[in-house]
Amino acid sequence: MFNYKDGVYRMLENKTVLITGGASGIGLASAKLMHEAGARVAITGRDQPKLDKARAAIGDDLLTLQVDALSTESLRNMAARIKDSFGGLDVFFANAGVAYTTPLSNTTEEAFDTLMATNVKSVFFSLQAVEPIMREGGSVILNTAWLNQVGAPGRAALSASKAAVRSFARTFSAELQSRRIRVNAVSPGLIDTPILRGVGQSEFPGQTEAEFKDYLASAAKQIPFGRLGHPEEVAAAVLFLASDASNYMLGSELVVDGGLSEL
Ligand SMILES: NC(=O)c1ccc[n+]([C@@H]2O[C@H](COP(=O)([O-])OP(=O)(O)OC[C@H]3O[C@@H](n4cnc5c(N)ncnc54)[C@H](OP(=O)(O)O)[C@@H]3O)[C@@H](O)[C@H]2O)c1
Repeated sequence: MFNYKDGVYRMLENKTVLITGGASGIGLASAKLMHEAGARVAITGRDQPKLDKARAAIGDDLLTLQVDALSTESLRNMAARIKDSFGGLDVFFANAGVAYTTPLSNTTEEAFDTLMATNVKSVFFSLQAVEPIMREGGSVILNTAWLNQVGAPGRAALSASKAAVRSFARTFSAELQSRRIRVNAVSPGLIDTPILRGVGQSEFPGQTEAEFKDYLASAAKQIPFGRLGHPEEVAAAVLFLASDASNYMLGSELVVDGGLSEL
């Protein structure tokens, strides 16, 4: 089914890929892998220097787009740029997201709204923007999380946002089936990326470096594998969902969490 070239399976030869939030973490690892797999890849992010660094790491043919996922106008411009540059889109990885705690006792309305707008609304409107340029037989991958079906204290908004994204994978699958566009979700566990260091992400905001390391060590103990995941391990699942290797998968969720949510 696949061509093997230069040590890499060219699973996405002649395909075009767009990844939101692709300048760091899981998005960046996915961009690297799908580029190696033969795709023409575009990534988005808010931070131009981070986008430039990603291009330096991956190659001059990486298309980088400065996009604010919270702006529907910015998302429509993103789709127009992709159409101009690629002609159409085969793979869309809706990956951009934020993570921070929202304890019931002291969370502001603004913090709640920002999390939901970034993790839920922007996924809806980014897919709305790119759907017209997606080719028949295309693949959409939505980034949910292990939190989508467990109760973790202080993470009400984050968990609910990822449960909504999990639900989107089912609804959009049904909605786009007539165009033969498959929609599936990838569900990472605790993955070692910059998001873990975001303000208010851990239960101990304002922590020192030592406290953060303690938090990571105690989190790792709860994972059956005994360690956090690497972004490349999630990227491998994203590549599989993007490619024809997952041809018979629709509306599903691929869990990549070292056993965290399953054991
Ligand atoms: N790491 C984990 O443990 C874990 C677990 C489960 C799910 N996930 C999910 O995986 C996805 C990627 O996260 P990551 O772990 O790879 O962390 P990350 O490196 O912080 O990536 C998040 C990306 O989202 C982008 N982003 C956030 N808000 C944005 C906005 N308003 N407009 C445009 N881009 C925006 C960021 O881009 P800029 O900052 O460059 O703008 C960043 O590149 C997220 O949806 C996250 O919820 C992560």
